[in-house]
Amino acid sequence: MVLFLKNKFFVYTALASFMLIAVQCSQSSDKKAAALSQKDSTVCSSKKPLNPNGDSELALLMRSMNTSTASFRELIKQGKLPEKFPEEFLKIHTAKPTDPATSTPIFEGFATSYLNGLNKLYASPKDQLTSNFNIFVQGCVDCHQQFCPGPIKTINKLKI
Ligand code: HEC
Repeated sequence: MVLFLKNKFFVYTALASFMLIAVQCSQSSDKKAAALSQKDSTVCSSKKPLNPNGDSELALLMRSMNTSTASFRELIKQGKLPEKFPEEFLKIHTAKPTDPATSTPIFEGFATSYLNGLNKLYASPKDQLTSNFNIFVQGCVDCHQQFCPGPIKTINKLKI
């Protein structure tokens, strides 16, 4: 009987410590998840509006570039280029970002090399359309690695 009680006590203690560990673990993974989702929505989310005043000029431009690039992709797969050069993309240098800290010489550098990729695509011989398109999309990814990791997965899917 004493043995049984002892065992029971042991079982309860073990159970209690197990539950404590479980709770602690789930709390820390909750914290991690919260930190991640916070990072996603503040650094760069493709879904939620990022600031209380609505989406920034740059965020709207990005969304539109994303849609246009997806339609370029379909044309390029057929060996064609869109007829009109997307002038809108040039606004990347002037559109206001959500976070003013984004506007740095590093950002400008990525924006310039991204636009160089766009020019190269438009000057591309037919047999290099696909590779030049992928280089252009890599220009999006390069900048995003520095400034806005959230949408990288989506952007990579644009590659052919
Ligand atoms: C020079 C850097 C740079 C380049 C190049 C760039 N992006 Fe972005 N992108 C950003 C930044 C910074 C943001 C965050 C904008 C903001 O919140 O104001 C962003 C935001 C986005 C978003 C989220 C928009 C939203 O709804 O909040 C998408 C999607 C996106 N970019 C796709 C692209 C695609 C596709 C390309 C290439 C065709 C591209 N980006 C090229 C820096 C860049």
